[in-house]
This record gives sequence, structure tokens and C-alpha cells, in this order.
Amino acid sequence: MASGVRGSWGTRMGFLIAAVGSAVGLGNIWKFPYITGVYGGGAFVLAYLFCILLVGLPILMAELTLGARSKRNSVGAFITLDEKRGKKSPWQLGGWLGVISGFFIMAFYSVTAGWSTAYIAKAISGFSGTAAEIKAEFDKIQNTPSISILWHTLFMGLTIAIVIRGVKQGIEKWSRILMPILGIILTGLCVYGLFFTSGGMKALAFLFKPDFSKLTSEGVLSAMGHSFFTLSLGMGTMITYGSYLKQEVNYFQTSLTIAFFDTAIALAAGLAIFSLVFTYNLEVSGGPGLIFTTLPVLFKQTGMLVALPFFLLLTFAALTSAISILEVVVAYFIDEKGWSRVKATLGVGGLIYLAGILCTINDFTFHFQGKERNFYDLFDFVTTNYMLPIGGLIVSLFVGWVLKDRFSEDSEVGILLHKIMRIILKFVTPILVIIIILHGLKIL
Ligand code: TRP
Repeated sequence: MASGVRGSWGTRMGFLIAAVGSAVGLGNIWKFPYITGVYGGGAFVLAYLFCILLVGLPILMAELTLGARSKRNSVGAFITLDEKRGKKSPWQLGGWLGVISGFFIMAFYSVTAGWSTAYIAKAISGFSGTAAEIKAEFDKIQNTPSISILWHTLFMGLTIAIVIRGVKQGIEKWSRILMPILGIILTGLCVYGLFFTSGGMKALAFLFKPDFSKLTSEGVLSAMGHSFFTLSLGMGTMITYGSYLKQEVNYFQTSLTIAFFDTAIALAAGLAIFSLVFTYNLEVSGGPGLIFTTLPVLFKQTGMLVALPFFLLLTFAALTSAISILEVVVAYFIDEKGWSRVKATLGVGGLIYLAGILCTINDFTFHFQGKERNFYDLFDFVTTNYMLPIGGLIVSLFVGWVLKDRFSEDSEVGILLHKIMRIILKFVTPILVIIIILHGLKIL
């Protein structure tokens, strides 16, 4: 183990910002609104909030604990903390699964973030045309691999450049600069959508008035999958980030803070985007293109002043998340295989780059679980809905049943909290995850 050269956070605040930076990303601003549209609004949002509380929050706590206690990457954490079995620990499967999911998630994530990068350029040249023309323009980017590849190359290059610099000088420093600006812009857009457009109130009703007849089993599965995706759980990101902590933190408070910011930002993005969707009579179930086809309709009027910061920040939010995905895979090769950071980042980054190219080929599809899916859809669907929840299930069971230590301080409230969390991790979270997966597979 090359622990002497492992990185660490400069300050606790720096860690917190980096962890929020990891959680807040395309998942909040791009994915949450689009899947909420696809799965019918309010009832889906409720299922999602339920999953954040009962599945996401406990697993977030468990992952941070695993990382901070072991000071190792996602595979090494299980090996170190399974004292009886060590290198033979079957639990390390959870870590492996994470490294593999990280590889596939990063591939489609970079392609999507590439579109966001492309829209920085578009914002500078200005948006024009009708809503239909704006949509046609996005379809063109999405359906032309050479354009998507160009922007994917740029985004992947940026991600690699930051990860190569390491934890403090790369990840922490950039998260600190980029995250606060994102919060300000998003609040502005949300207030504008809610109070200054005619669709504001409809958006509020769409998101918060549940109509359970619209909720399907795939919707519930996706709500759970998304609670993992949006909190960066189930693939070892939070184990890895926890492992760079120098001292213990209050895991409950930290997890609550991360989950709070993450959820608030997703809901704000949803309100901003659906206000426009309803104001301009756009399609709620517009799919992955939703933000690229709705927001430009507004930006046409506001001009570069709002459009440019928005897409810059969307890209930056994606960047602070992308680095946390790549870091999981890189940390594994550094800790377990003794590779240098440069070699690990370039090697892994290069391979992921190639997998990303597959995600730009749209018309090659497979039939999988009731739908035609291309590589992009397939990577997203399988990692988010199955691999992350299974990774999370393993973490939950491991911390609930195997890890002996407490994960909150020894105050009375801390001890009570510890007991409650342990019961949730032992029983509630695993049972929920298993039921929802079986339901999604139509077995239950
Ligand atoms: N949470 C990020 C987002 O919402 C994406 C992300 C970062 C992620 N690390 C992850 C998703 C680990 C799954 C697992 O955009």
C-alpha cells in the first residue's frame, strides 16, 4: 500500500465543498428534470425524496465512514476493514463493482457534459429561431457523432487535467471556486421561472402534486437509481473522498449537509426548467435533450448575459462531479497497483475516453428491458438502476453487519443516532433496495 503518497484534503470545509461538488452535477440540473418529466412529475418526485432519505442518506454516511476509517480506495476499504478475512474478503466485490460502474458512468457523463460545453460556444454566438428550430439544432448535435466526439474530447481532457494534479491542488481548489457561483446563478433562474413567467405555478404543481396513477415500476426503480446517482453513491466516490480526510468528521451532519444541498439544487433546477416548459408549451417528456431545448428558448430573449454563465456553470458542475468519478478508478490503481497518479489518470482516462466514443453512436441499438437502447442509454440504464443500487446494498450490509466501529461521536444523541442508523443499514435500506430491483425486473 502506497499510503505515504496518498493525497488529503487541505481543510474540512474543502472536503465538504468537494463532496457537494461531486454530488451536484448533471444529475441535478440535467437528469433530475428530464426523468421527472419522463416519469410523470409529482409522484416520481415523492418516490425520489423517499429514496434520498431512507436509502441515500444512510448509504452516504456508510460510504464516508468506510473511506475515513480505512484511508483506502473503494476496493482497499473493504479489504482493510474486513479484519477477519482481509485480502480474501468477499465484500471487496462491492468495490470492484464500483470501479467498473465508474468506467461506464464516466463515459456517458463526459458525452453529456460535452453537449453542455458545446452550448457554451452556442451561448456566445447567441440562440435564435423558434422552439422547434432550437430543438432541431440539439438533435443535430446529438445525432452527429463527430460533433459530440469533439466536445467529449475537450471535456474529458479537462477532467484528466484536474485529476492529474491530485486531491488538494486539483479537486479541492477547483470545487471551491466553481460551486458557489453555481448556487447563485441557479437561484436566480429559479426565482425568475417561478415568479416572472406564466408557467411558474404550473411547474410547482407538476413537481409537488403527486398523481400516483402516473407512477410505473420503472419510475420507482429510476427514482431509487437516481437517488444513488445524484448523491454519487454505490460506486465508491464517497468512500474515496472520505479516505482523503485527515481526521474524523461528524458523518451524520456531513451527510445531511451534502444531501440537503444536492436535493435543493435538483428541485430548484426542476422548477426553473419546468416553468419554461409550461410557459412555452414544450414537451415535458423531452428526454435527455430537455435542458438543451428548453432553456435556449428563454436565453434567446435574455441574451448572452444569462446564457453564458448558465452553460459555463453547468459544465463546471459536471466537471466537479466528473473528477470524482474518474478519481475512484484512478485511486484504485494508485493504492492497489502502485501506479503513479500520472500513469493511472492517463491510462484510465484514455480508456474511458474510448468508451465515451461508443456513446456518441446513436443508431446502433440493442433491445434491452422492453426498449431499444443505444450504448449511451444502456450504460446509463444499467449502471444507474442496477450497478449503483447493488454497490450500495453491499456497502449497507457491510457497514450494518460487519463493521464494528461506531460512526458518530459518543454523545448521547450520537449513540442513539448510531443505533438508529445501524438498524436502517442492516434492514431497511437493503430490503428496500432488493424489493425495488426485483420490482423493476418485474419479478415481484
Ligand atoms: N452525482 C453526480 C451528479 O449528480 C454524478 C456522480 C459523481 C456520480 N460521482 C458519482 C454518480 C458516482 C454515480 C456514482 O451529476
